[in-house]
Amino acid sequence: MTTARTTEHLPFGEKRDPRFFGRDILSVSQFDRSDLDTIFAVAHEMRGMVERIGTFDLLKGKVLTNLFYEPSTRTSSSFVAAIERLGGSVIQINNVTYSSVSKGESLPDTIKTLESYSDAIVIRHPEKGSAAEAAAAAAKPVINAGDGPGEHPTQALLDAFTILEEMGTLDGLTVTMLGDLKYGRTVHSLAKLLTLFDVKINYVSPEILKMPAELVAEVGAAGITQLETPDLDAVLPNTDILYVTRIQKERFENVDEYDQVKDSYVITAETMTRAKEQMAVLHPLPRVGEIAREVDDDPRAAYFRQMEYGMYVRMALLALVLGRA
Ligand code: CP
Repeated sequence: MTTARTTEHLPFGEKRDPRFFGRDILSVSQFDRSDLDTIFAVAHEMRGMVERIGTFDLLKGKVLTNLFYEPSTRTSSSFVAAIERLGGSVIQINNVTYSSVSKGESLPDTIKTLESYSDAIVIRHPEKGSAAEAAAAAAKPVINAGDGPGEHPTQALLDAFTILEEMGTLDGLTVTMLGDLKYGRTVHSLAKLLTLFDVKINYVSPEILKMPAELVAEVGAAGITQLETPDLDAVLPNTDILYVTRIQKERFENVDEYDQVKDSYVITAETMTRAKEQMAVLHPLPRVGEIAREVDDDPRAAYFRQMEYGMYVRMALLALVLGRA
């Protein structure tokens, strides 16, 4: 689904912003700064509504399909929480071995089936480009919840919203991305999204997990100052946002290569003594040791708050895409 639908006579409660209503969310590249201002304003409103009343009926009668071909805790359950807090309901498929996919059903056929039961589809799939393929098959909006090493646009939106809520602004900040920058779809999406702001970006990784050159070129072409280094200490004292990622074992074809780099960086309480007092540590999670648990009590550790912000952002996206924001 790629075109917005408009009607002159809207059902009660419907507010259709043509930038969002009926549209797919496949890549951060589809958004401009004004889109983000809208998403973040609605997400902030959602936060207030949840804190005040918990659950409300904005999307009553709407049904979301949550189709996950890859494991997920946060993305999957926060979309469930988002639609349910908005009064809608969900078809949850998070183990495709128990669906007709295991009988060999194609992705387009699966999508056509599920859209006949629901108003929007969230999909996570191991192959880059799969969300776009699903969207091409669907008449209803499709939301990319991670397509292999491709993109994770709703994660980038929640990351940016987290920075805004924690720091009050994104402009003027230095963001340091650390870990698996080659396969990490969250950093791919976030780096692209940050081109809409006045930021500097540092990429810290082992040599074999550097940010893809084409992405560095794309971000550079947008006028963003970038620095690549394997040395965290070289950039930590000037970092405002430390975005840590997991070295993803499941993306390696050669396990020996994974073993060589898996413990390259570990953020500890001692590391934090060398960081700014006003800094936020983000991580899309799950973590497997790259942030020591002793860091969790540091007020700069924002990664658990980041998960919660994700629900507000996904509530905002669902309300906007389904025409009720
Ligand atoms: N951040 C993220 O995508 O987490 P999950 O894999 O648990 O959904």
